[in-house]
Amino acid sequence: MTTIDVSAPGPAKRRPLPGKTLFLLAFHATLSGAFLVSWLTGDEDTYGMHQFAGYTVLAALAVRLAAAWVAPSGPLRLPRPSAGAAMGWMARLLVGDPRARVQRSPLLAWMAMALLAVVGGAALTGAVADFATPVERLHEAVADWALAVVIAHLALVFALHALKTAAARRAVRLNRTESSVP
Ligand code: HEM
Ligand code: HEM
Repeated sequence: MTTIDVSAPGPAKRRPLPGKTLFLLAFHATLSGAFLVSWLTGDEDTYGMHQFAGYTVLAALAVRLAAAWVAPSGPLRLPRPSAGAAMGWMARLLVGDPRARVQRSPLLAWMAMALLAVVGGAALTGAVADFATPVERLHEAVADWALAVVIAHLALVFALHALKTAAARRAVRLNRTESSVP
């Protein structure tokens, strides 16, 4: 997946170009903002705003996919989830491997893929419902799923952050204990 997370420790890696990082941050900000506005304005009274925000989500995703198509390797490539990597990481986390706590979690790629699919699904079905009223119900159901996945995304981001912070604190404590031993 992408490189929004620039704090991941580990061996020195080639840093992505700032322009690409900026692009990803702008994409993320536009997508998140437009998604939240879409979610809050689905009512008839605010339909104009809903249309604008919903089509902004669609446009942001189209630009993201185009960027991945133009630059299929490097930071702009699409996430490539791997079941083996995810299972291996969870197994290592469960047995208490400290490196699993600080390395980039393979779950992020799964989550990014799920987000792109379900948020894209909500925006696409919305665009169809704009012309075909019977699709409204499907659109509302997909939008509900999208919200659930976004909440899971936030939970995962904060949980991984907490895991890293706890691992760093533990390392500092261990260092202090070792250096105080005569
Ligand atoms: C305060 C709220 C949010 C925070 C703190 C947050 C944080 C993050 C972070 C840290 C990543 C990068 C994960 C990685 O290292 O791979 C990420 C990726 C992503 N987030 Fe969020 N996020 C938020 C809200 C949202 C919302 C509301 C949406 C969707 C509507 C969203 C959609 C995505 C997508 C699609 C990616 C993958 C981007 C890509 O591969 O290009 N995020 N988010
Ligand atoms: C990711 C983007 C989107 C999200 C999260 C979203 C979310 C929602 C939600 C939650 C509702 C139900 C509101 C309610 O029950 O009162 C709704 C209704 C609707 N949305 Fe979206 N939507 C999105 C994109 C779009 C787009 C691009 C269009 C195209 C114009 C659209 C058209 C509609 C229509 C026609 C309705 C039914 C309105 C009504 O019953 O009066 N949506 N949307």
